[in-house]
Amino acid sequence: MGNVAVILAGGQGKRMKSEKPKVLCSVLGEPMIEWVLTACENADIEDICVIKGYKAQLLDEYVQSRSTRSEVTTILQEEQLGTGHAVMQAADFLKSFSDANTLVLNGDAPFIDAQTIQDALDYHVNNDSAVTVVTARLENPTGYGRIIRTDEGISGIVEQKDCEPYQLAITEVNSGCYWFKTEKLLEVLSEITNDNAQGEYYLTDCVELLIQKGLRAHAYISRNPNVVLGANDRRALLALNDIARAEIIGRHLDAGIEVCCSDGVSIGNNVTIGQGTVIHSGVILRGSTTIGENCVLGNNCIIENTTVGNRVNLNNVQAYDSIIEDNVKIGPFVQLRPGTHIKRGVKIGDFVEIKNSTIGEYTAVAHLTYIGDSDVGANVNFGCGVVTVNYNGDKKFRTVIGDNAFIGCNTNLIAPVRVGNGAYTGAGSTITKDIPDNALAVGRAKAEIREGYAASKLHNRIEKYEQIKKNEESGEQNESDKVSE
Ligand code: UD1
Ligand code: CA
Repeated sequence: MGNVAVILAGGQGKRMKSEKPKVLCSVLGEPMIEWVLTACENADIEDICVIKGYKAQLLDEYVQSRSTRSEVTTILQEEQLGTGHAVMQAADFLKSFSDANTLVLNGDAPFIDAQTIQDALDYHVNNDSAVTVVTARLENPTGYGRIIRTDEGISGIVEQKDCEPYQLAITEVNSGCYWFKTEKLLEVLSEITNDNAQGEYYLTDCVELLIQKGLRAHAYISRNPNVVLGANDRRALLALNDIARAEIIGRHLDAGIEVCCSDGVSIGNNVTIGQGTVIHSGVILRGSTTIGENCVLGNNCIIENTTVGNRVNLNNVQAYDSIIEDNVKIGPFVQLRPGTHIKRGVKIGDFVEIKNSTIGEYTAVAHLTYIGDSDVGANVNFGCGVVTVNYNGDKKFRTVIGDNAFIGCNTNLIAPVRVGNGAYTGAGSTITKDIPDNALAVGRAKAEIREGYAASKLHNRIEKYEQIKKNEESGEQNESDKVSE
């Protein structure tokens, strides 16, 4: 249809006291502008123009970094002279879409949603409006532009600072989201002046200008009043996080996900979770993460940009940019760093770190192990304390372990190295050469035994412990119990 969106994101947001443009401040781990972009994309708007200003380069970097379903252009507004001035910068961009409609949105109001955008467009088209303003009724409308209603529609929007006292009582406010007939918007944009309390070019003045041309203006009241909410400082940003957190958890509860205690639970807007999954306190799910059905996410898991299969049990696990297949059990206290692929049925125990590695089906990595840059086969057993030595201080190398191998406790595998299918390493071995299939490799110093060596020392040690026990019984303080000053 050629409908386009213009997202206003030029402002600094001084009160946020941030190094970044305000729209890059995050709600549930996603920059506010990401929420707005996602809403546009979910509403099937394919061409989006972002108005950048303060620290424009950071916004460009962000826009380029995201994988996008839409065409996103950025246009610089050199000076931030108001929302009307911001849209003026997009005039040339809009000319190539002049026979359709333009959606204008504030980049700092993250809760706009695709349904509201689409419903407002239907309303806009059905009423043959030149502009349709998305509004909400708020108990406390302070700070927002007030909507002036008439019998036919609306006659204007008055900013807080320009309100007559009686207008301050109006509770219907401008969300900063509008649908315009693109052609009509282009006609009136250049007619906006900065003759108002703030000396800014107000986009809201378009409403009166369009009416003066005999065109129609309407307000669409959003079913979701949160669409108006924005954040000007860190307190407001926290409030948005709390609202979003509760809202998203609620959505997952309705979809059959069990949350035992929502303390510290934070689920990103782009996370999907399968029915029957149980989420314990402190679980944080971020980015484009997918969790399958009937999983248990125990306390304090952080899962980011990771795909998790069905019936997976994670406990105190941090996983980043990884894949975990069905029926896997991991934890507690495990970190999966980017590029990790854990195949079906794998068990990983406590204090294990895995990076940029594939772990084959039904392999067990029980405890205290580091696996980096490795390709591990199926049914492998890792003893306690295995280390893949992948880095020589200069370059990284890969370790390859065949199916059914058995890696003894405390083995160091000095990469590049290959352990053959079914091969064994002896406990405490340092392996520097490839091991053929089904072979045993042992590489450790033989223990030397000196008979009677310790007998003379034993007496002193026993005496020391006797003394400690005696002191405890008599209530006298032991040296080791004294608090150092
Ligand atoms: C605007 C509306 C107000 C509405 C409110 C909803 C106007 C005049 N007022 O006010 O009616 O209730 O939004 O939140 O439009 N921006 C630029 N360039 C600029 C100025 C702003 O890109 O020169 C961007 C900001 O970065 C921000 C958005 O536009 O993302 C809104 O600007 P802001 O100054 O916050 O407008 P409000 O005063 O909140
Ligand atoms: Ca604002």
